[in-house]
Amino acid sequence: MKNLSNYKVIAKKVLFRADLNVPVLNGVITDSSRILAIKSSIETLIKNKNKIFILAHFGRPKGEVIEKYSLQFILSSLAEILEVEKIHFLKNLQEENISKKIHEMKSGEVCLIENIRFEKGEEKIDWDFAKNVSCLFDVYVNDAFSASHRNHTSIIGFAKYIPAVAGNHLIKEIENINKFLENSKKPNLAIVGGSKISTKINLLNNLIQQFNCIVIGGAMANTFLLSKNITVGKSLVEQDLVEVAKDIQTKASQLNCKLILPLDVICGKSIEDREPIELDINDIAKNYMILDLGTKTTALINQEIKNSKMVLWNGPVGAFEYKSYEMATNEIALNIKQNVKQFGINALAGGGDTVSAIKNANAEDGFDYISNAGGAFLEWLEGNQSPGVIALRENNLI
Ligand code: 3PG
Repeated sequence: MKNLSNYKVIAKKVLFRADLNVPVLNGVITDSSRILAIKSSIETLIKNKNKIFILAHFGRPKGEVIEKYSLQFILSSLAEILEVEKIHFLKNLQEENISKKIHEMKSGEVCLIENIRFEKGEEKIDWDFAKNVSCLFDVYVNDAFSASHRNHTSIIGFAKYIPAVAGNHLIKEIENINKFLENSKKPNLAIVGGSKISTKINLLNNLIQQFNCIVIGGAMANTFLLSKNITVGKSLVEQDLVEVAKDIQTKASQLNCKLILPLDVICGKSIEDREPIELDINDIAKNYMILDLGTKTTALINQEIKNSKMVLWNGPVGAFEYKSYEMATNEIALNIKQNVKQFGINALAGGGDTVSAIKNANAEDGFDYISNAGGAFLEWLEGNQSPGVIALRENNLI
């Protein structure tokens, strides 16, 4: 696979795929990791006097131009984090606009292209669109591992027509996740949280074959509880996945994989409820919803962490964005941080919310690696090669 070390990109017109799908709350970027992630590649390309066109998506506008999904809001943060004086902006990928911009830009300058998902040809793979755009550039660089699981034009299309090169962050993601998976030390523990089982069925089915113990937390644990006929009140559940939850439990026990489900939980009448109560899992009243794990369950998880040699974490175990429901997620993050050295634990985490949760707990330095990918991280753990990475590997244009 070509990368920015083994393939020199000098004085070229570069189409650079980044993932700038950053979390935003009330117009403020709450985590800039994805911008920071492309800095190393952009610096290399600037130093080598290229004209760099950053291509990225934001949200899911599905081929329509929708103002609230415009990438213009990110320009100032992008310039600040990348430490460049000026960033040009290109409103669309019309040929004449691109040519004009290329002409206007000096070597070593950067231009951000408007949300690629405003283009109809992005999500449904439009080879003509890919060909027409790519022929205006010399090189395509993909530094968006976190979007590389998508079969979209900007991920696989351009690589068909011009030399395609892996960015530094994409390489870093693959190397670190693979290193963790390939050097599996036992006993190992996976902590899986988040709101929906539906997005994690394949992951769980894969993990039960490889892990000694799996903790299931977050709202997805509610469906598991329901499958054991435990009353979960107003909690979020996926009724149609109760059988799937049962099936995962049966397979886990056949494979000797211990599943830890909540023993006690922190509940509120709603997510806004500032007077949470802690309840045993068998005592949840009708008007309450489960919003975090309780102290007994958290202590059990902390013990499992200490007993493990490897910990994989994806998905917060409670509604940690709310102070009242951050306890278990924070405790787990801090417990990993405190014990990695003493017990020789390797820890890997990934997923947008997980990254925020670990930062919220100030526990980043407890992890060997934290991936900023969400769906792409999960698919990689499931053993699927990302289409974007395959496209880079298969590109033999020079
Ligand atoms: C992500 O946020 O995980 C990536 O940017 C991919 O976004 P998507 O799920 O909208 O394709």
